[in-house]
Amino acid sequence: MSTERTVVDRLWPEVAAALDDAGILAAYAPEPGAPWLRMNFVTSLDGAATRDGRSGGLGDAADRRIFELLRRQADAVLIGAGTVRDEGYGAMRLSPEAAAWRTTAGLAPQPVLALVSRGLDLDPRSPVFADAPVRPIVYTGAGSSATRRDALGAVADVVVAGAEGDDGVDPARVRRHLETRGLLGVHAEGGPSIFGAFHAAGAVDELCLTIAPTVEAGRAPRIATSPEAAPAGMRLVGLLRAGDELFVRYRRA
Ligand SMILES: NC(=O)c1ccc[n+]([C@@H]2O[C@H](COP(=O)([O-])OP(=O)(O)OC[C@H]3O[C@@H](n4cnc5c(N)ncnc54)[C@H](OP(=O)(O)O)[C@@H]3O)[C@@H](O)[C@H]2O)c1
Repeated sequence: MSTERTVVDRLWPEVAAALDDAGILAAYAPEPGAPWLRMNFVTSLDGAATRDGRSGGLGDAADRRIFELLRRQADAVLIGAGTVRDEGYGAMRLSPEAAAWRTTAGLAPQPVLALVSRGLDLDPRSPVFADAPVRPIVYTGAGSSATRRDALGAVADVVVAGAEGDDGVDPARVRRHLETRGLLGVHAEGGPSIFGAFHAAGAVDELCLTIAPTVEAGRAPRIATSPEAAPAGMRLVGLLRAGDELFVRYRRA
């Protein structure tokens, strides 16, 4: 990866060359005073959300840099169980530099990892839980297995956030619970089912999307999927560029 490609310029609303980390964080500063939930994704030009089944093949060093900086601003990082399994997530631990930045900004040194799952096919001994710097939260539906809830309860706060008889979570309930825990800023890393479910429920405020300069074709999924379409307009609030790659920030209209 050449250094050239990790240079990030701001194109809109202001123009600024070669942003440092503080400049990138400023470009993504959350709106003050209100809880927020932001989805972060990478897509190819033709809308693929994965290459060889993972998002990592689409992103590059600049995408990774912005991804890590976005985690910094959040009280909680929300992820679907499918992404945790497919991407092989380990414990989420931000760097000492990021932890110091967070402390100065009035945040806890590490964000809370919040997972969403119906089936709770999650191993309590996996590093996601066993090595977590902060006890994770697992959101699940009322129909999930009590045995699995108990097993995960040893290593995480398991929260039923769905209606009786519904095996899925209600995104609005998840958000309310996060807020009652004081976790007001939520950086969500997908995947497509979680984006679709939270978007359809009106529970997504922002999309921070990396547009990778590649055409993939094939049968990769899109970044949001749900049983029913749920069209909703978005408003552009920021645009960065690293070489041929674009980083767009959209807010719900
Ligand atoms: N391009 C990108 O930026 C990006 C980002 C993230 C992921 N991805 C890719 O997306 C793929 C994974 O897609 P995915 O849709 O399976 O991932 P996902 O959205 O992370 O996970 C789906 C899982 O989340 C749980 N879930 C979804 N909706 C739920 C609801 N309403 N209530 C309770 N649980 C719910 C279920 O877990 P259980 O099965 O445990 O019940 C479901 O199987 C991977 O290939 C990954 O690499 C791409």
